[in-house]
Amino acid sequence: MIQKILTTLLLALPVFGHSVTPQKKTCVIPVAGDGLDDSPAIREAFQKCGTNGKVVFEKDSTYSVQTVLQLHDLKNVEVDLLGTIEYSTDVRYWIQHGSYYYFQNISIAMEFSGEDITIDGHGTGTIDGQGQVWYDLALGIGGLFGRPIPFCLRNVKNAVAKNFKILQSGKWNFVMVESQNILVDNIYLSSTSDDYQANPGNLGNTDGFDTINSDNITIQNSWANVGDDCVSFKPGSTNMHVKNLTCHNSAGIAIGSLGQYDGVRDVVENITAEDVTLIGSRNGAYIKTYVGKPTYYPPQGGGGGNGYVRNIVFRNFHIENITASPVLLQQCSRWAGYDVPSCADTPATGLFSNISWSNFTGYMNEAVGTNSISLVCSPLATCEGFSYDNIDIKPANGTEATYECSNVEGYSSSCQKN
Ligand SMILES: *[C@@H]1O[C@H](CO)[C@@H](O)[C@H](O)[C@H]1NC(C)=O
Ligand SMILES: *[C@@H]1O[C@H](CO)[C@@H](O)[C@H](O)[C@H]1NC(C)=O
Ligand SMILES: *[C@@H]1O[C@H](CO)[C@@H](O)[C@H](O)[C@H]1NC(C)=O
Ligand SMILES: *[C@@H]1O[C@H](CO)[C@@H](O)[C@H](O)[C@H]1NC(C)=O
Ligand SMILES: *[C@@H]1O[C@H](CO)[C@@H](O)[C@H](O)[C@H]1NC(C)=O
Ligand SMILES: *[C@@H]1O[C@H](CO)[C@@H](O)[C@H](O)[C@H]1NC(C)=O
Ligand SMILES: *[C@@H]1O[C@H](CO)[C@@H](O)[C@H](O)[C@H]1NC(C)=O
Ligand SMILES: *[C@@H]1O[C@H](CO)[C@@H](O)[C@H](O)[C@H]1NC(C)=O
Repeated sequence: MIQKILTTLLLALPVFGHSVTPQKKTCVIPVAGDGLDDSPAIREAFQKCGTNGKVVFEKDSTYSVQTVLQLHDLKNVEVDLLGTIEYSTDVRYWIQHGSYYYFQNISIAMEFSGEDITIDGHGTGTIDGQGQVWYDLALGIGGLFGRPIPFCLRNVKNAVAKNFKILQSGKWNFVMVESQNILVDNIYLSSTSDDYQANPGNLGNTDGFDTINSDNITIQNSWANVGDDCVSFKPGSTNMHVKNLTCHNSAGIAIGSLGQYDGVRDVVENITAEDVTLIGSRNGAYIKTYVGKPTYYPPQGGGGGNGYVRNIVFRNFHIENITASPVLLQQCSRWAGYDVPSCADTPATGLFSNISWSNFTGYMNEAVGTNSISLVCSPLATCEGFSYDNIDIKPANGTEATYECSNVEGYSSSCQKN
């Protein structure tokens, strides 16, 4: 008898387990229309369905976002971003209301926080920053306070963001801060300016992907046309992987800027960037730091920090029409408009070790003569374990490839191995 009951129970268990699994709560966000703000409905959907649920931005719908979105405390949520999120152009509002983060005083228009978050655009999802108004406003003052960041993962653990676009970002496009274990896949970024021919500077600070104080992020199979760094690994970036990324008109793949905050120790460790194509880029694969003596203040000025950068691999880069050195370490950044002392006067301190560049092909912009390799370490920094291999970037026609190295352990000033 007991045995019979037990058998029945066991047989019934899977069915039982199945029948009580609750249907995932799903919130489909309505569009208010009539020029109204859709942010309240977006907040409400995340409140109701942000834990063990699903939030849907409907296909062929445009959601007007006029107020800052702080979508916090999410847990095990799936976001189907099928439609378009469009930011308002009320610069006065955004300058006063972004979500603040201390690094370079950034201001975030929409941030997601929590655990186990999947944001899938299914190829149609779009976030439109309506950035032209910001490009015009920030002309000559790239660090203008309050430029809104349209998409940020902040204090996130375990996330996937895939298959969507970010267009016309007001500032950096896709930002990850204080986060870990993130996969970024098949993202399309495009920020262009009406005014670019007249004022190429006005896309300054429209970075593609940025990481700050974050660990274990992969960015893959993505495409960007942006006016500043395509990817920038900022302070506190560890265990990062970039693979299969194409960038147009960008400033390349950057580590830094580091050392911007006086007395602060910045660490960047274990970064691999591979299978990268850069078209019409300013820089290639590079590391940049502030000088050792603080000069003016963040977000643009600064300096006097320390720290280290180690275990960095840049490989398989195809580069067309680049205007500065494809292999570059800059320790003497000067900021336009500021009277920064020369690097030799105020050397940046730091340790740079185990950094390699290999298998670079392509050509330089015909209009500029520049070094194929420029690794200029400050006299106070330690630069050791550097290597470069198979760097075949054709210089401007009729010119010879040139090399410049200083204070790099094991290399002469013309970058020959000692
Ligand atoms: C940026 O933040 C610093 C403090 O970290 C503050 O002193 C400074 O005033 C801020 N700048 C702007 C433009 O908000
Ligand atoms: C890194 O993140 C990925 C998700 O992108 C995850 O699968 C993996 O387990 C994480 N690695 C570690 C060491 O946590
Ligand atoms: C590289 O990424 C692009 C999207 O930008 C994609 O179309 C292509 O299939 C990817 N290549 C590989 C080998 O995954
Ligand atoms: C960097 O990678 C090495 C080797 O895999 C590992 O031992 C070290 O812990 C990593 N560093 C960080 C900060 O995760
Ligand atoms: C140098 O960096 C590579 C790539 O991150 C890593 O595999 C290797 O262990 C590092 N070597 C040392 C001596 O740390
Ligand atoms: C070098 O890079 C090219 C593409 O940029 C790639 O096809 C080739 O396989 C790479 N070679 C090695 C040895 O990784
Ligand atoms: C290189 O870029 C310049 C603009 O900086 C452009 O005028 C030129 O046509 C480009 N050359 C090629 C070969 O793409
Ligand atoms: C490079 O080629 C272009 C177009 O063929 C030509 O206009 C330019 O003068 C050349 N530059 C040099 C340095 O030879």
